[in-house]
Amino acid sequence: MFAQLQLVPKDIPLPLPLPEGVLITLLVFSFLLHILFVNLMVGGSVLTLWFEVKGLKNKKYDALAYQIAQTITVNKSLAVVLGVAPLLSINVLYTIYFYSANALTGKYWIMLVPLVAFVFLLLYAHKYNWKILANNKPLHISILVLAVACFLFIPFVFLANINLMLFPEKWSEVKGFFSSLALPNVLPRYFHFLMASMAITGLFLFYYFSRKGFEFKESLGEFTKYDLQKKFYSLAFGATTSQFLFGSLVFLTLPSKGVDWNLFWVILLGVCFGIAAMILMWFEITGPQEKIGRHFVRVVSLITITVVFMGTGRHIYRANALEPHQRLMAQRSAQHAEMVQQATWEAQQGMSAQADLPPGEALFKQYCTVCHKITERLVGPPVIEMIEVYANDFSGFKKWVRTPGRKRMDYPAMTGFPQMTDQELSDLGDYIFEQ
Ligand code: HEC
Repeated sequence: MFAQLQLVPKDIPLPLPLPEGVLITLLVFSFLLHILFVNLMVGGSVLTLWFEVKGLKNKKYDALAYQIAQTITVNKSLAVVLGVAPLLSINVLYTIYFYSANALTGKYWIMLVPLVAFVFLLLYAHKYNWKILANNKPLHISILVLAVACFLFIPFVFLANINLMLFPEKWSEVKGFFSSLALPNVLPRYFHFLMASMAITGLFLFYYFSRKGFEFKESLGEFTKYDLQKKFYSLAFGATTSQFLFGSLVFLTLPSKGVDWNLFWVILLGVCFGIAAMILMWFEITGPQEKIGRHFVRVVSLITITVVFMGTGRHIYRANALEPHQRLMAQRSAQHAEMVQQATWEAQQGMSAQADLPPGEALFKQYCTVCHKITERLVGPPVIEMIEVYANDFSGFKKWVRTPGRKRMDYPAMTGFPQMTDQELSDLGDYIFEQ
């Protein structure tokens, strides 16, 4: 019943290029690295926009926006380069699932390439025209608005795909990208991602503006260092707190087929480390000014552990969710292999049966039966007609078979057999003229 409701393609019987465990580790960790820089790129763009707009009233925010904008393009390049490894590993590990999801959201999936390239150009245009467009802020901000709008759209395409690959039972119902968005888990995951971007970017900017080498006075003189440290810590804290809502929504809207106790414990452990990080952040934000940042390394380590747990949970869910379908697919592939074997065997039997025939009949079966039957017209005239024409003209027969002419206008032309030996032709003749 289950098997009939969903599409079960056969697998491609190729060995993995690396042990499965290595590929899975590569997938989980390279994805986390990739998404880290994606978070920084998206979070950085949103914050730049926010502060640049604020800067219309108060110049010091414009200076802050300018500083954040400098980080986006670097983070963007790292995000792109680091996206290659997870994309390759997921293709190798989940070939059929990923391929099917890609195919079903085809136009939008391929549209990512020009779209992403376009956003990157916008980001450079925005960054390098800051001073030039200082007197045309509406235009300058519009460029960034467009880039941010695209950045907020792009994750939908990824999420639609990555969700769709988990639910082969939906493949026959889904009608392209927009209908994939309606899969249960897509929207909660979207907000979970956006909030993670804000949290990670908050922590990153805390570090970025606390750095010893950063020339604070010259570039952001109207702020105190503490102002910014507190601002970005609070952002990280607020965004992390919101994950209690969005993270829970993600977990609760996961279709139950992939949820098990392993997943539950892994997520719960991750949450515990996250809470520890939040408590430390809270101490830092509310604590004495000169001591802010003393727990920073601990906070980052705890968040990193949280993220690794969440990434692992993500893999556990995927493995669980696809396991039954993978089993069906293995069955289907085995069935197919068996059918191929059977057919090969039958063909061999057929051929050896032909080998037992008299040589003329075997030749006729091999070369002529596609077009000629004994008493009826097929592509060419029946054998009885050949007999009428050539019964007393054996050499004429041979000549025709080697290099047929053009005779009957209501038939197509016959292909010749110039490679046939005299022996073969006389065997063939013996068979035909006996009919
Ligand atoms: C691809 C189809 C095709 C194959 C294969 C084919 N024939 Fe024909 N054969 C034809 C057609 C079509 C004609 C009628 C051609 C015409 O009249 O112009 C024809 C006509 C003939 C004729 C009658 C010629 C005549 O002068 O009236 C003979 C004899 C003949 N085929 C023998 C053979 C033999 C023997 C073989 C196998 C070695 C063979 N054909 C394989 C299509 C085929």
